[in-house]
This record gives sequence, C-alpha cells and structure tokens, in this order.
Amino acid sequence: MLRLSRFRFLRQVLIGLLSFVCVVTFAACGSGTPTTSSTGSSGGGVLKVATEPAFPPFESQGTSGDLVGFDIDLMKAIGAEAGLDIQFQSLPFDGIIPALQAGTVDAAISAMTITAERSQSVSFSRPYFKAGLAIAVRAKETGITSLDSLKNKRIAVQIGTTGADEAKKVAGAKIRTFDSAPLALQELANGNVDAVINDAPVTLYAIKSGNISGLKVATDQLLTEEFYGIAMPKDSPSLEKVNTGLKALIDNGKYNEIYKKWFDSEPATLPETAPL
Ligand code: ARG
Repeated sequence: MLRLSRFRFLRQVLIGLLSFVCVVTFAACGSGTPTTSSTGSSGGGVLKVATEPAFPPFESQGTSGDLVGFDIDLMKAIGAEAGLDIQFQSLPFDGIIPALQAGTVDAAISAMTITAERSQSVSFSRPYFKAGLAIAVRAKETGITSLDSLKNKRIAVQIGTTGADEAKKVAGAKIRTFDSAPLALQELANGNVDAVINDAPVTLYAIKSGNISGLKVATDQLLTEEFYGIAMPKDSPSLEKVNTGLKALIDNGKYNEIYKKWFDSEPATLPETAPL
C-alpha cells in the first residue's frame, strides 16, 4: 500500500515536471502557428514570405545576393501599405505549398498561378498579374508550332508548375523536370530537349535580356491565361491585410509604377477574382 502511494506521488511529481517543461518549451519555440503576431520594425508584425528566386523578372538574386524583381517590389510595397515587416525566405517551388500548410511561412509570392487545385490547400490574394504559358524552342526550329506538334517530343519544365501540368497533356511526350526554369531553358539551348513549357513573361525576359541565347517562342498565342496570386495558409489572418494593401497600390498608381519598372509597358486590368 505504502509503496503504491509513494509510486503515485512520484508519478504526480514527474507529470507536473513534464508539463512544466512542455509549457516552457512551447512558449520559447512557438507552437507552429503563423508568426504574424510577432512585432516587426514597422510595428505591425512580421510576415515571413516564401519565394523561389530563379524566376526573373519576378524574383531573382541580385549581384549582392539580395532578392530583386517585380514580386519583391510589390510585396515590399504591400508590407509598407499594410504595416507588415516583410521577411523573405527562399524555398524550392514545389516546397512552397507544403511550407504554407505547415505554417513555417506566412505567405508566398512566387509568380504562383491561382489554380482550382491549389485553392483547395491554400488561400490566394486577389490576382496581381496576368500571364500565360508559352512554348520555347531553339531559334532554328520550324516543326513545333503548337501544343499538338509536341507529340512524342522531349519537353523540359520546372517541377510543380503549371507548365509541368500542361506538358503532361501531350501524348507520348518525354518530360524532364528541373528545379528551376533557367535550368530547363539551358537544357533546351544545349540541344538536350526539344521544347520548354514555361510562363511567357519569364521565357521572353530570358531571351530579351540575353540570359540565354539561341531560343525563340514557338507561337504568337499563349497556351493559357493565368493569374498570379499571393498564397497564404487557409484562414490566414493576413489575407485581408494583403488584399487591402494590394488594392490600395492598384488604386494609387504605385502598382503601375512597379509594373512599368520591370515590364516597360502598361499592366492589363486585373479581375477581382481569378476565373477558375
Ligand atoms: N506560374 C507558374 C506556376 O504557378 C510557375 C511559377 C514558378 N515560380 C517560380 N518562382 N519559380 O506554376
């Protein structure tokens, strides 16, 4: 009897100790919920924003290693508008949605197309850019003029992208996936694949800037119409702030300024929600 109650007493002490340790650890490490509650230098909270930074002119690494691009300028401007301290974090493109779901980042801006499938696992802001897919081929290519003409050809794509999904529709295609779009385009320039399916603004920018040589876009018409959105975890407390900030920038002309800086043209009018 006595031995039993001593055992019970010890067990109570142990449980007490353990729960104390748990509470302290959780308080110190955070419980895995979004970090918007921590206060940043702007006073309104930190927003950890993921991006895959090999997608110029939307996001890339500048000469000093800092992030530059349309998405980067836009996200910083949204932060300034919404009183959020933006902290970027580089991630592989196919790791972004899992990171949002796990709550290790609060948002992602990565030229990410708003799709019905992705909308099941994350929430998107209102559309901030109109884009579409294009087929890139070597400059001397004459046989590839449409998605259909890619049948049985070798196609390179970036992993996890809408371009990769489009390539899957081509019968008999041998698809090679790469971690980044520049790597896929380089493979095409090297003659190891016949085409790349990628976002048109990025492919056109790579050709125009001379980042890659000997390539052209195969068709005048884009394969798809896509809208980019800023992705956030479902029910994110930041969704409304980001949307309000984005709307303010569109209305006050700052969005136009950023657009002209990177694309040297007028932006398309954007719908309030992406047609899915
Ligand atoms: N728009 C395409 C998609 O959402 C490609 C985006 C790739 N973005 C990047 N930063 N690598 O699937």
